[in-house]
Amino acid sequence: MLILIKESYAELSREAVRIVANAVRRKPELRIGLATGSTPLELYRELVRLHREEGLDFSRVVSFNLDEYIGLPADHPQSFHSYMRRNLFDHINIRSENVHIPDGNWRGSLSDYCASYEALIAHAGGIDLQVLGIGKDGHIGLNEPTSSLASRTRPKTLTQQTIEDNRKGFGPNEQPPDAAITMGIGTILEARRILLLASGTAKAKAVALAVEEPITASVSASALQLHGDTTLLLDQEASADLRHGDYYRRVAEGTRRLNPERLW
Ligand code: F6R
Repeated sequence: MLILIKESYAELSREAVRIVANAVRRKPELRIGLATGSTPLELYRELVRLHREEGLDFSRVVSFNLDEYIGLPADHPQSFHSYMRRNLFDHINIRSENVHIPDGNWRGSLSDYCASYEALIAHAGGIDLQVLGIGKDGHIGLNEPTSSLASRTRPKTLTQQTIEDNRKGFGPNEQPPDAAITMGIGTILEARRILLLASGTAKAKAVALAVEEPITASVSASALQLHGDTTLLLDQEASADLRHGDYYRRVAEGTRRLNPERLW
């Protein structure tokens, strides 16, 4: 893992934009995996700006979202479909046929549907760059603790912590969904490159467990230790519980000197 510690959320987002925009410029038919949540909001805002002001072209980009709530209408403001439209897709020139988000309202067999989502990813040639956030409980996608490190796209019951974290945005009389379809950890690990963003003190413990403790199904993000090209982009707060922050800063500096392509 390459760990880049930035001063602030703004700086972390700037670096994320640089990486994603470069990936699109280098490979216009990039297959990108996308996350929702508050962390990538600034990344998406800035990609929209780059599209509008500098013509960053998404016309050949193919996207796969990590997850979607089960049972929430796709046009509900809190659905991940709505989030993606509102924050990115409605404002760039990605083609609707190139956008893939799990269907949380699938009426037939969910396991067949999830297998078909995997097949779509495989048919597209796999994911080149997967953007991830991390939950307070260490989840990536919505792979809650105890998810198999080999798991594939499937329905997943959410922990109470995740349900509470997602409550904001739902009305006082609304019950936030308690399940989702999510790419599995095995699915995520097949992406060629992974970029995980974490900001704020609420993520510090999960980040430290994922990076500095043994790989365990109790902390899904720890599985990223098995991936050969993962970059963690943290702000100071999210890095606060790391024991070896000084060393990671030196590694980042060394990488800049010795292996700059690793920084994308
Ligand atoms: C969302 C997703 C989740 C979030 C995580 C962090 O598509 O896959 O893993 O990335 O829950 O959410 P925020 O960024 O809101 O803290």
